[in-house]
Amino acid sequence: MYNDLEKILFTEEQIQTRIKEIAAQIDKDYAGETPVVVGILKGCFMFFADLVRQMKTNIEIDFMSISSYGNNTKSSGEVKMIKDLDRTIEGRHVIIIEDIIDTGYTLKYLMTTLSARNPKSIKLCTLLDKKSRREVDISPDYVCFDVGDEFVVGYGLDYAQLYRNLPVIGVLKESVYKK
Ligand code: IMP
Ligand code: MG
Repeated sequence: MYNDLEKILFTEEQIQTRIKEIAAQIDKDYAGETPVVVGILKGCFMFFADLVRQMKTNIEIDFMSISSYGNNTKSSGEVKMIKDLDRTIEGRHVIIIEDIIDTGYTLKYLMTTLSARNPKSIKLCTLLDKKSRREVDISPDYVCFDVGDEFVVGYGLDYAQLYRNLPVIGVLKESVYKK
């Protein structure tokens, strides 16, 4: 797997250090509350698990699954729900956990869909933010790391469903997807 990486952007240690900071910030912001932490599958799975285990606030967890790009490295702008939440979020504080915000279409769709259910609040937490590629107006409340316009994999993020189990985040070699 490591042979397919152009370079490593964030090591396991860097990721965990940053996650502790973000968890502390969220704990501070939600003191005395019991937010519903919503993970967007599958990309969030490692980040979600590491983040919530650093949080000291009482939380409930739930998951949604949203269709991504198939095997492409660029967003189609088309978003489809594969799995909805199990429970209602009406009157609840909601924190959405994403792996990466690219064009922003996925989150725009999610924010619109979830806002319509009358939660008390919705905030957005993302592992990575690819700001330069944004096409719609979405700005996350918590960001672990900014990344440039490069295709990244690992720590939950995939290319064609591979590399999710890499413990680091790295840039995928172009030769891997330009065959
Ligand atoms: P958006 O709708 O364009 O913001 O795309 C968000 C989704 O695209 C993420 O949840 C990822 O699944 C996927 N994605 C975007 N950029 C990357 C990347 O560099 N590596 C892996 N997946 C990505
Ligand atoms: Mg994906």
